[in-house]
Parts: sequence; structure tokens; C-alpha cells
Amino acid sequence: MAGGPARIVNLFALIELMLLLCTHKSFCVSMTNSKSSIQADKKADVLLPYTSPTASPQPFLPLLAPSPLTPFTNSTIPQLSGLCVLNFTSLTNMLTVTSTDCMAAFAPLLANVVCCPQVEATLVILIGQSSKYTNTLSLNGTTSTHCLSDFEQILVGQGANDSLSKICSVHSSNLTEGSCPVSDVSEFESTVDSPNLLAACEKIDIVNECCQQICQNAILEASRKLAQKAYNLLTLGETHALSDHSSRINDCKSVVLRWLASKLAPSRAKEVLRGLSNCGINKVCPLKFPNLDHVIKGCGGGISNRTECCGSLESYVSHLQRQSFVTNLQALNCAALLGVKLSRANITENVYSQCRVSLKDFSLQVGAQESGCLLPSLPSDVVFDRTTGVSFVCDLNDNIPAPWPASSQLPPSSCNKTAVKIPALPAVASGQTSFDSSDMNSFLYLTVLAALSILI
Ligand SMILES: *[C@@H]1O[C@H](CO)[C@@H](O)[C@H](O)[C@H]1NC(C)=O
Ligand SMILES: *[C@@H]1O[C@H](CO)[C@@H](O)[C@H](O)[C@H]1NC(C)=O
Ligand SMILES: *[C@@H]1O[C@H](CO)[C@@H](O)[C@H](O)[C@H]1NC(C)=O
Ligand SMILES: *[C@@H]1O[C@H](CO)[C@@H](O)[C@H](O)[C@H]1NC(C)=O
Ligand SMILES: *[C@@H]1O[C@H](CO)[C@@H](O)[C@H](O)[C@H]1NC(C)=O
Ligand SMILES: *[C@@H]1O[C@H](CO)[C@@H](O)[C@H](O)[C@H]1NC(C)=O
Ligand SMILES: *[C@@H]1O[C@H](CO)[C@@H](O)[C@H](O)[C@H]1NC(C)=O
Ligand SMILES: *[C@@H]1O[C@H](CO)[C@@H](O)[C@H](O)[C@H]1NC(C)=O
Repeated sequence: MAGGPARIVNLFALIELMLLLCTHKSFCVSMTNSKSSIQADKKADVLLPYTSPTASPQPFLPLLAPSPLTPFTNSTIPQLSGLCVLNFTSLTNMLTVTSTDCMAAFAPLLANVVCCPQVEATLVILIGQSSKYTNTLSLNGTTSTHCLSDFEQILVGQGANDSLSKICSVHSSNLTEGSCPVSDVSEFESTVDSPNLLAACEKIDIVNECCQQICQNAILEASRKLAQKAYNLLTLGETHALSDHSSRINDCKSVVLRWLASKLAPSRAKEVLRGLSNCGINKVCPLKFPNLDHVIKGCGGGISNRTECCGSLESYVSHLQRQSFVTNLQALNCAALLGVKLSRANITENVYSQCRVSLKDFSLQVGAQESGCLLPSLPSDVVFDRTTGVSFVCDLNDNIPAPWPASSQLPPSSCNKTAVKIPALPAVASGQTSFDSSDMNSFLYLTVLAALSILI
């Protein structure tokens, strides 16, 4: 057996979880197994947004819960290259969370907010932790290829989608130093103000960091210092230095993050990394806006025909929302962006209020009662529980009218507290850090089920 390419795996649990977004806007889950397909097409209107106020934060509401749900603890044991220096064993738990966050059919729908940020954080932590032994904050070309492939195999073995590198645009080059001139740990520490960097980032305030940018500024400053070294080298005749400056700073940023991950416990590092990536995530609208001609036609000319206008708008928004789950803050950005596009097409009346478009309309709908599922603005993970299945947190405090932009300009950033006055900004957005019991009814643990087929 030893050394041969023998398949050591003959028992694996394969989770096949298909999520169909049905035309009638309800959330359908189809359970497939490789041969037969039982489709559970239940409307999710059994979902109740209220849970006991005394409940601890685990009351998953079992929606369409399979009984009993077979655990997929015995996942595929992947065949690894043996050529990767990363210690996957030391981060077993984190890898399991990452696989769950990127679970098969959910991965594309959660890619932007949950899955890919978690994949990136996990890779940074793996390299950071290994640097304690290798003294380098990057992998070389060959090693990076092996490591990325091993990493993917481990995740896929635990139920993750098998096209993660494509979904998350991760390439093996992302594990190298790229164009950053420094990756040696001691050189790093003698180049940047490392005590200051660590102090700024070891305990970030994930609610306020996005606006205050204490850690982000320290990371940027450190990245600039590292990138600057390329020019010092240039005078010594290095050709290595010809890369574009901003992309070099960007590559150095990855090196800085890995260094931070080497100084922090993995769980703290994850919190910091996911918190930082959510700053970027919440600033944009991740949805792609297809051609608006139909809405412009329906709503043009001073909304002469309201039925037609609202019909076309509703149809447009319901197509948009099928793209992915978005956070509450992303939904605000999407509403603003669509509003600006319509204003620029001379639709200046507030069609959101005319047509009762609310924030939740910008995210996937989970029921005939139109409970939207906006993800919280703070980082969250998908949870797999043997009895309840797959769950993730939705902020249900989302039934607020989509704000119509005051002008054809995008509104100021949500950090500008004097300029942003949104009625009832979703709870998490306004500064909640933990799901304490008094806020439990803002949340719904949406439980969507997994169907498992065990292949032996
Ligand atoms: C998982 O595999 C181990 C060893 O292969 C076995 O002992 C255990 O019973 C299996 N568990 C399940 C739930 O299949
Ligand atoms: C990997 O990490 C585990 C747990 O932290 C440790 O027991 C093991 O020795 C490490 N392996 C290597 C090759 O460093
Ligand atoms: C993995 O994601 C792709 C989207 O890139 C999707 O087409 C595919 O169905 C997913 N795989 C599974 C097993 O659901
Ligand atoms: C890449 O790194 C590995 C592990 O650190 C090392 O064994 C290998 O020689 C390196 N390859 C090159 C081309 O430097
Ligand atoms: C990996 O690198 C490519 C190009 O260098 C970049 O476009 C991409 O965003 C990077 N991916 C991640 C996850 O950082
Ligand atoms: C408004 O549009 C609808 C659908 O296009 C159409 O059936 C209806 O006759 C129109 N009403 C008026 C008053 O034009
Ligand atoms: C908007 O209306 C103005 C004035 O009525 C007109 O000049 C302009 O061409 C219109 N723009 C579009 C995109 O229809
Ligand atoms: C915040 O918005 C107000 C009003 O739009 C503007 O005057 C002010 O300059 C903005 N502040 C910042 C820091 O952007």
C-alpha cells in the first residue's frame, strides 16, 4: 500500500445539497441522492421570527429538518500530496467550519459574505502559523501549488463545493509573496513597526474598526514600508522591482496579515481577519445589475401606469435577489445603487415607496410570507448540527422600506453619521456584537436541510 496511488477511501459521506430557487419565490430544498430524488418543496412559511426571549443563542428552528439527519463526520479522507509544509492538523476545527461555510450548493450563494472570506482567512492563518517553524511568511511556487490542492481536497472531503478556487478566485500565487520584497520573518520584523502593528490589530473592535480604521491603517502603513524595500533593492540592481506599486502594496498586505496570524491564536486571528474583510464587503453591493430597460419603460414618463411600473420593478428585483445572500448593509448599498441608476434614467419619483420595495427584497427570500434573509453585517458562519442540519443567521429586522437616494449621486458612506440617517438601520449594523437574548427575535436561525447520501 505504502507509496502507491491506492485509493484509501472507500467510505465517505457525500453531502449533496441542492437548493432550488423556485420561481414562486419560495425557498425550496431538494434532497437528492445519487439515484433517486425526493424533492421537498415546502414553503418556508412555518418559519417563526420569534423565539423565547430567554433562549440561549442556539435555538435553531428546524425547518424541513430531516429526521434523523445522518452526521457526515466520516468525510472523505483526502489523499494529500505530502509536499505541503502547512500543518492542516493543527487547524482541524477551523477547516471544518470552512467546509461548512462553503458547503456544496450553498457556496455560490454565500460566496461573497461567508464562504470566500472564511477560505481566505483560513489560508492566511495556515501560512502564518507555519511561519513560526519555517521563518517565512510565504510559500514558494511549487509548494503553493501543492498546498492549495491539498487544502481544497481536505475541504471537499468534508462537504465543500469542489470549485472553490474558481468561486473565490484563489490561485496558488495567492499563497506566495507575489511582488512583495519581504517574506522572511526577521526581515519583516526589522522593517515594520511590529509592536505597533500588533497593538493596533490584536484586539480590533469589529463594530467600529470599519470606520475608525485603526488596524487597517496600521496594516497599510506596514505594507507600504515593505513595498518600499523593493525600491531600495532597485538601486542595487534588482529587476524584481518592476511591478506596479499599488499591486505590490496589496501583495505586501497579504504578508502583513500572515504575520499577524502568526502572532495571534487562530481563533482570534480569524475574528480579526473576518472582521477586516467585512469592512470591504459591507461597503459595496455585490449584485450584478442587468439591463434596466424594462423598468425604465415601465416607470418612465412620471409613472403613468403604476401597475406596470411596479410589476416591472418587482420582476427586476426578484431576479436580482436570486444572485446571492447579501448583508443588511449590502442591501442598503444595492438599494442606493439601483435608485441612482433609475434616477439617472429620469425616474426621479420614489418608486421604492410607490411599489413598497423593502430592504429584504434585495436578498434571497425564504418563504411565501416573504421573510427575507439578510445576513448580519458582522462576520458569521454556517453551522452544521447533527440534529438540526445546516443553519445560518438571518437578520430579520429588515422589513424597512428601501431608502430612495436623495439625488442621482450615491449617498455618503455609512461612516458619515451626520449624513446618514436611515430609519431603523438593521440592528447588527448599528452596533451589536453578540447575539444576546434580548435581541434574539431579530434573528432567525434559518435551518435548511441537508440531504445526505452515504456512498460506500
Ligand atoms: C467513522 O470511521 C471510523 C474509523 O474508520 C469508525 O470507527 C466510525 O464508526 C465511523 N463513524 C461513523 C459515524 O460512520
Ligand atoms: C501539527 O500540529 C499538531 C497539533 O498542533 C502537532 O501535534 C503536530 O506535531 C504538528 N505537525 C507538524 C509536522 O508540525
Ligand atoms: C459548486 O459551485 C458551482 C458554482 O460555481 C455550482 O455550479 C455547483 O453546482 C456547485 N457544486 C455542488 C456540488 O453543488
Ligand atoms: C520550496 O519550498 C520547499 C519547502 O520549504 C523547499 O523544500 C523547496 O526546495 C523550495 N523550492 C524552491 C524551488 O525553492
Ligand atoms: C489572488 O491573486 C489574484 C491576482 O494576483 C487576485 O486577482 C485575486 O483577487 C487574489 N485572490 C485572493 C483570494 O486574494
Ligand atoms: C397598465 O399596464 C397594465 C399592464 O401592462 C395594463 O394591463 C393596463 O391596461 C394599463 N393601464 C392603463 C390605465 O394604461
Ligand atoms: C432626462 O430628461 C431630460 C430633460 O427632460 C432630458 O434632457 C434627458 O435626455 C433625459 N435623459 C434620459 C436618459 O432620458
Ligand atoms: C459627512 O456628510 C456631510 C453632509 O453630507 C458633509 O458635509 C461632510 O463633509 C461629511 N463628512 C465626511 C467626513 O465625509
